[in-house]
Amino acid sequence: MDYAATGQEALSRIAGASDLDTLEALRVEFLGKQGSISGLLKTLGKMSPDERKVEGPRIHGLRESVTEALTARKDALETAALDARLESETIDLSLPAPEQPRGSVHPVSQVMDELAEVFADMGFAVATGPEIEDDWHNFTALNMPESHPARAMHDTFYFPDRNEGGREMLLRTHTSPVQIRSMLDVVKHNPGGAPLRVIAPGRVYRSDSDATHTPMFHQIEGLVIDKGIHLGHLKWTLETFLKAFFERDDIVLRLRPSYFPFTEPSVEVDVGYAYEGGRRVVGGSGDAPGHAWMEVLGSGMVNRRVIEAGGLDPDEWQGFAFGTGVDRLAMLKYGMDDLRAFFDGDVRWLSHYGFSALDVPTLSGGVGTPA
Ligand code: DAH
Repeated sequence: MDYAATGQEALSRIAGASDLDTLEALRVEFLGKQGSISGLLKTLGKMSPDERKVEGPRIHGLRESVTEALTARKDALETAALDARLESETIDLSLPAPEQPRGSVHPVSQVMDELAEVFADMGFAVATGPEIEDDWHNFTALNMPESHPARAMHDTFYFPDRNEGGREMLLRTHTSPVQIRSMLDVVKHNPGGAPLRVIAPGRVYRSDSDATHTPMFHQIEGLVIDKGIHLGHLKWTLETFLKAFFERDDIVLRLRPSYFPFTEPSVEVDVGYAYEGGRRVVGGSGDAPGHAWMEVLGSGMVNRRVIEAGGLDPDEWQGFAFGTGVDRLAMLKYGMDDLRAFFDGDVRWLSHYGFSALDVPTLSGGVGTPA
């Protein structure tokens, strides 16, 4: 049988199809269950092997060329339809903006942007690490070996399986593992070590839930590695950061000796505050009348063992680190009182506490103006 004529006719009808509906009708006519080419394919079964050897490739060839033609025509028609739409649709830029802009920037995102802005001004880059961590980065490298009691305090979510390297896997309980990752990364590119100034904001997880704790929350970590770094650098940095973040010059810090496995010495940082209009407002000394101290940060000089785990020589390199809760900073600055509401996704809460997407934090314009 001569399929050339059948093919010719099919191809010319496909090329002539002027819209997608006509094309679909042709597809059904040729290739549908009852289609003519499908019918030809069915005749193969009844042929003798010799006949089939000859006819098989021809019928399949016919089906292939028709299929290709259908696809090509479909692409062409779709492109033409899109072109026509683009041609006909216009945007009227003189229309007024909607009265109620929809969507807002979540306070956590806003505060993270504010923090990045404040620290960028002091020469800090933003570093990140995985939320699914291994126990070496999350604990061991931070001077918390397997038997360390501080591990138990973290209420860690573990995964049932270890990774390929045999390490236990977990949801990171703090942003501190990014310290290790940042140091290892800097050493990879500069084998002798190099100064480092990073902040690492991100999600962290602990099995804990009440008005001030949620199983997922946000922290920000800071790490400075250089030569001759001392506690004075830490104090200046934190004071400068807190003044810029809270946009007040009267922030007073109190450094209290404390303990963290990854810092030595370790200090907890308090700020003075007072109640104004029923909510905590930072500013002034905590020892002033009507004032009190509130802990806002953990920090300290990076422990020698942590510097070693980061691949650096602790006799050459020193540093300081700090960490704090982003959600808590947001609550303090913008006056929310229940942490759980942060993650409920309630539109009323979001539109009350959310920020305008156009209000990008800058040091000249102010880092945070509520919408
Ligand atoms: N990782 C600590 C936590 O989650 C916070 C912290 C304390 C971080 C002291 C630091 C630090 O970098 O120096 O509780």
